[in-house]
Amino acid sequence: MDNDTLQHKMRELKTQFPALNQTVYGRPLVYLDNAATTQKPQRVIDSISEYYSKWNANIHRGAHYLANASTEKFEATRSALAEMLHANFREEIIFNQGSTDSVNMLSTILENEVEEGDEIWVTEMEHHSNFVPWQMLALKKKAHFRYIPMLPSGEWDLDYAKNEITDRAKIVAFNWVSNALGTVNPIEELIRLAKSAGAYVVVDGAQAVAHFDINVQTLNCDFFLFSAHKMYGPTGLGVLWGKKELLEKLPPYRYGGEMIKKVSVTGTTFNVLPFKYESGTPNIEAVIAFNESISFCKEVGRENMHAHEYFLLKTATERLKEIERMTVYADIPNKVGVLSFNVEDIHSADIGTLLDQQGIAVRTGHHCTQPLWEKLGTTGSVRASFACYNTVEDVELFIAALNKSVNMLR
Ligand SMILES: Cc1ncc(COP(=O)(O)O)c(C=O)c1O
Repeated sequence: MDNDTLQHKMRELKTQFPALNQTVYGRPLVYLDNAATTQKPQRVIDSISEYYSKWNANIHRGAHYLANASTEKFEATRSALAEMLHANFREEIIFNQGSTDSVNMLSTILENEVEEGDEIWVTEMEHHSNFVPWQMLALKKKAHFRYIPMLPSGEWDLDYAKNEITDRAKIVAFNWVSNALGTVNPIEELIRLAKSAGAYVVVDGAQAVAHFDINVQTLNCDFFLFSAHKMYGPTGLGVLWGKKELLEKLPPYRYGGEMIKKVSVTGTTFNVLPFKYESGTPNIEAVIAFNESISFCKEVGRENMHAHEYFLLKTATERLKEIERMTVYADIPNKVGVLSFNVEDIHSADIGTLLDQQGIAVRTGHHCTQPLWEKLGTTGSVRASFACYNTVEDVELFIAALNKSVNMLR
C-alpha cells in the first residue's frame, strides 16, 4: 500500500475511538502516550457494557444459561489468542492481571529451577517489571544477576551477550521493544543464543503486540507475555503464553478456587492447564472485550499500523531535530513510534506540563527504566508515542506546542 493510501486508511480509524474526540483545557486532545496505554475503540467499550447488561455470570462453574454464555465468550478469546500467537495448544494461554503479574508469576514458579551460582540474565533496558522480580529471585537463590549492557545508541551490546552467556545462564528475560526508547531488539538472535546455552527464555512483548505479528513457534521462546491495554484492550488483563510441557511441569503460582482438582483435609491436587494458573474469579468482562481488540488489530493489520506509526515517527523526529539543543534518544532505524527526547537545561516534567496545557498528552520521567537512563547519563525524558489512530496533524500540533513550550522555558 502506498503511503498516501495508508495515511487515508489510518485517518478513518480515529472516529472509532471516542476518547480522542474531546477537548482538554479547551484544546483538541492529541493523545501521544500510547506506550503507557492505548485508547479503546467503541467496539471494546460496547463489549464491556454488553457483558454487564446481558451476560454477567461467573464462568466455568455455573450450570445455567448466563454462566454457559459468559464461559463460551471468555474461552473464545483464549482461542483467538492461540490463533494470534500461533500457539500449538489453546491451554498454553494463561490470563492474569498484566505483564507485571506474568513476570512475578514466572520468577516464582521458576524458583526451584535456579541453584546457587546460576546466572539470571536481563538487559539494561528492561522495564522495572521485567527487571526487579529477576533481581529478587537471584538474591533469594544466591544466583548471579547479570545484564546485557545497552550501547549509547539504545541498542543491545549483542557481542557482550555472545561472549558472556554460557551454560551457567538459567533464565534469560528481555523485552522485544523498549518502552522508553522504542528500540526494536534482535530477539531472534538472543533467543537462539539463550536456547543454545540451555536457559529458559522469557520474552516481554508488552510494547511489541500492537506493532508486530507474533509467532511463538518460530520465535522458539519458552514464555511470551503482554498486557491487553497496550493493544487497544482493557486494563488489568495480561496474557502469558508458555510451552505446554513447561507449564505442566512447573508448580502452581497462586492457590485457591478453580485451580484445584480435588481438595480434602489430607491434601490437594491441582487442575489441568490453563486453570492450574487461573485461580479465583478473573477479569471476565476484560477477557471477553479483548476479543474485539484482537479482531480490530487483525482487521487493520499490524504491518499497516507499524508502517503508519513509523512514518509519523520519522516526520516528528526530523521536525524535533530542528529545535536547538535537542537530544533525541535512540535515533536509529529499527524502532517503533516512540520518540524520547530532552532539551538541554529544561526539565522533562516542565515540558510535559506545558504540553499538557496545550492539549498534548505525553509521558515524562524515567518510564520505569531507571538503569537505562543511568546508562544514558540522565534521569529521564519526554516521551511521545504514536498509535495507529494518530495523524500528521497530531504531529504538527505537537511540534508547534513543543516549540512554544521550549521558548517559554528558555
Ligand atoms: C516493556 C514493558 N514491560 C512491562 C510493562 C508492564 O505492563 P503492565 O503495567 O501492564 O503490567 C510495561 C508497561 O509499560 C512495558 O512497557
